[in-house]
Amino acid sequence: MSVRLAPSILSADFAALGDAIAAAERGGADLIHVDVMDGHFVPNITIGPPVVKAIRKVAKVPLDVHLMITDPDRYIDAFADAGAAMISVHVEVLPHLHRTVHAIQKLGVKAGVVINPSTPVGALLEIASDVDFVLVMSVNPGFGGQTFIPRSESKVRDVRALLDRAGNTADVEIDGGVDFQNIASVVSAGARIIVAGAAVFNTPDPEQAVRDLKAAANRAAGATTPR
Ligand code: DX5
Ligand code: ZN
Repeated sequence: MSVRLAPSILSADFAALGDAIAAAERGGADLIHVDVMDGHFVPNITIGPPVVKAIRKVAKVPLDVHLMITDPDRYIDAFADAGAAMISVHVEVLPHLHRTVHAIQKLGVKAGVVINPSTPVGALLEIASDVDFVLVMSVNPGFGGQTFIPRSESKVRDVRALLDRAGNTADVEIDGGVDFQNIASVVSAGARIIVAGAAVFNTPDPEQAVRDLKAAANRAAGATTPR
């Protein structure tokens, strides 16, 4: 299966999100990655359900909503109503992760579980058969444009193996510091949803950046033994 590219609008011009999304889609974006931050779980504050709803009206591809908030259970309904097709929640804030994952799925939304760089892959063990996707953070969440943490590559490999052992074909997503230098190796490690913020929107031509990143990712996937 081919790789899906999910440009993160965190690095786009917030005054012109519609234009940013349109450019990413012309380049072949498969998803739009939306970073929701509450100033508690992470130091930054970004956007909430009303903005997601507005984006939904202009986006042609599904919205992948990444919740970096301390109390996701309170907001899942609102983000589903706003039009999220995928919602991911952090294992670090959820004592009842199983309940949360199933609550998301009950709303007809794909449920993802996210692990921070310092969270061991083993934290996913008991939820591995329930998830629709797993997101491996390759930077500490909170800001766009940070440097990729190299150890994340082997974490992707370990998450892929864990999902395989659970008999779950769910995709592994990677988020943070992905660029032209490392995209091939994260895809070779097993990532099939690639988030890219700065590598898309901090360039003179985001449309072309999406096209080039996606081509590089799919070349790497082609070179990988099918699982
Ligand atoms: C970081 C966010 C990422 C971020 C990725 O907290 O979750 O989605 O926007 O941006 P880059 O690709 O610039 O690291
Ligand atoms: Zn994100």
